[in-house]
Amino acid sequence: MIIAPSLLAADPCRFGAETLRATRAGADWLHLDIMDGHFVPNVSFGPEVVRRLRPLTKIPFDVHLMCSRPEILLEPFKKAGADTITVHVELGDPVEGLIWKIRSLGMKVGLAVNPPTQVSAALPFLKKIDLLLIMTVNPGFGGQPFIAEMLPKIRQAHDWRKGKGLSYRLEVDGGITQDTALQCASMGADTLVAGTSLFGKRQMRSAVTRMREGAVKAARTA
Ligand code: DX5
Ligand code: ZN
Repeated sequence: MIIAPSLLAADPCRFGAETLRATRAGADWLHLDIMDGHFVPNVSFGPEVVRRLRPLTKIPFDVHLMCSRPEILLEPFKKAGADTITVHVELGDPVEGLIWKIRSLGMKVGLAVNPPTQVSAALPFLKKIDLLLIMTVNPGFGGQPFIAEMLPKIRQAHDWRKGKGLSYRLEVDGGITQDTALQCASMGADTLVAGTSLFGKRQMRSAVTRMREGAVKAARTA
C-alpha cells in the first residue's frame, strides 16, 4: 500500500519543511499537483519548485499534470526529478503520444480519469501504463468531499487488472481520509493520495501509519 501525501495541502511558504515532514512521517511517495489555470480553474506550481524539493528527500515524486498542454512540461519535470508523470485521459488524441514520450524519457506513466469520465476511456491504454488514477473529486482544489459514486470505477479498474493479468497501480486522489481510504482499498485501490487529511495533522506520522494499516486490512477483502 502506497501512501502519497499531496503537497498541495501544505503551506507554500514551507514546501521544503513540509516535504521533510512527509518523509519523516513515513510517506512512500510525494504527490505533486500541477495546475495550469486552463485544464482546471486553479494554478499551483511548476518544475522549478519540484527541482528545489528534489534534493530534500529520496521518496519518489508522483507528478499529476492537470494541464491542457502537458507535452511542453514532460522534459522540464523529468529534469526536475519526477519519477512518475500522470496525464489525463480527457485530453483525447494526444494521450497515446504522451504515454510514449513519458516512457521514452525514462519515467513511469500514469493515466488519470476525472469523475464525469467513464473509466472505459482508459481501456485502450491499460497495457501501456504503470498507474491508473481514479479521481475521487473534480480536480482543481484540495479539501473537497469524496465522491462515493467513484467506488464502482475503482472496482472495475481492479477487475480489469486481475482479468487481464496487468499490474498497474490503482491510485485514488481527492477527499481521501482514514474512512474513505478504507472504502477505496476494499475496492482494490493500492495507492492513496491524501492532502488535507495528512498535512492537516500535527502528528502526520500516526496519520500515515493508521491510513496504511487500515487500508492494508481493507485490501484483504478486495
Ligand atoms: C485535486 C488534486 C489532489 C488534491 C487532493 O485537484 O489532484 O491531489 O491535492 O487533496 P485532498 O486530499 O485535500 O482532497
Ligand atoms: Zn492530484
